[in-house]
Amino acid sequence: METHRQPVHTQTAAYHLAKDRLELIEARFRELQSSDIPLVQDVATYLLGNGGKRLRPALVALCAQACGYEGDDDIELGVIVEFIHTASLVHDDIVDDAVTRRGNEPANRVWGNQLAVLFGDFLYARSLALSVSLGKLRLVEVLTEATSRLVEGEMLDVLHNGNAELGLDTYMDIIDRKTASLFAGCAQAAGVLAEVSSEQEAALATFGHDIGIAFQLIDDLLDYAADPDRLGKQVGADLREGKMTYPLIHLLENGSAEQRAAAMACLGDADATQTGLESVLEAMRATGSLDATREAAARYAEQARTALSVLPPTPARDALGELPQFVVNRGH
Ligand code: IPE
Ligand code: IPE
Ligand code: MG
Ligand code: MG
Ligand code: MG
Repeated sequence: METHRQPVHTQTAAYHLAKDRLELIEARFRELQSSDIPLVQDVATYLLGNGGKRLRPALVALCAQACGYEGDDDIELGVIVEFIHTASLVHDDIVDDAVTRRGNEPANRVWGNQLAVLFGDFLYARSLALSVSLGKLRLVEVLTEATSRLVEGEMLDVLHNGNAELGLDTYMDIIDRKTASLFAGCAQAAGVLAEVSSEQEAALATFGHDIGIAFQLIDDLLDYAADPDRLGKQVGADLREGKMTYPLIHLLENGSAEQRAAAMACLGDADATQTGLESVLEAMRATGSLDATREAAARYAEQARTALSVLPPTPARDALGELPQFVVNRGH
C-alpha cells in the first residue's frame, strides 16, 4: 500500500485512542474472509486489504468506549459496519462506472460486474448474519434500517443522475440516506451495545448523522478539488457521471450564464476534457461554490460536536469531538 493511503488512525489523536480496537477489528476481517470458495477469499482479501480509512469502525469503537462499554462485541460491530460499507462501495463503483477506488481498480474492473454484484450481496448477507449473532434484536433493527436507507439513497442518486434541475433539498435528502444513515447507525448501534438511555442513543444517532452529512459534502468537494494521488479516486468523476452535488448545484444557482454553460457542457459527458473540467473548477472558485460546500460541511461538523454533550466527559468523548473537524479537513 502506498504510504499516503495508510489507515487514518496513524494520523489523529481520535484514531490513536481507537488504535487497539481497530487492530483487533482488522484481525477479525481475516478470520471472517474464510469461505470454501477461493474466489470469495480473493475478492475479500483484495477489498479489505486495500487501504480504507476505517472511519466507521473507529466511530463504533470510540462511541462504545465513550458510553462506558467494556465488552468485546464492539470488535464484531466494527467488522459488521465495515462489511456493509465495503458492500456499498462495490455496488457504488458498478453503478457509478468508477475507474479507481482506494488507488486501485474497483472490484468490478478486476472481476467484472456480475461477480462484483454478487460479492456485494455476499458481504451484506455476512454482515446481517454477524449482527444476528450478537443476540440483540435492536442492533439488527438499527443496522438493517441504516442499510435499507443507504440503498434507497443510492437508488435516488442513480434516478437523479444528470438531472440539472436537482435542488439542494433533494440533494440533502439523498446524502442523508446514502451516507449519513450508516454513520448514524454506527454511533447508535454502539450505544445499543452499551445499553445507554434512549436520550443518549438518539444523541449518538444525531452525532453520526451530522458527521455523515459533513463527510459526504467533503467527498463531493474533493471530487472536484482534491489532489488525485491522495484521493485514490478519479477527480472530476461526479461531473463526468452526471452527479448533481453541492458544489455543482451552488454553481448552477449562482454562476453567470457562461459559467453555467461550461458546467452543463461537461455534465454527464464521460469524455469531458481536462480543459473543460478545469474551466468548471475555475468557475466554482470564482462563485465561491467550493467555499460554500466546505462551510456547509463545517456547520454540520459543529452541530455534530454539540450532540456529544449528553455523554459523560471522558477521553473517548474528547476523541469523538475531534472527528468532525478531521472529516472536514481531510484530503482523501
Ligand atoms: C467513501 O467512503 C464512500 C462515501 C460515503 C463517500 P470512505 O471515504 O470512508 O471510503 P474508504 O473506506 O476510506 O475508502
Ligand atoms: C457513495 O457516494 C456513497 C455510498 C453509499 C457508497 P459516492 O458515489 O460519492 O462515493 P465515492 O465518491 O464513489 O466513494
Ligand atoms: Mg461513487
Ligand atoms: Mg455513487
Ligand atoms: Mg464521491
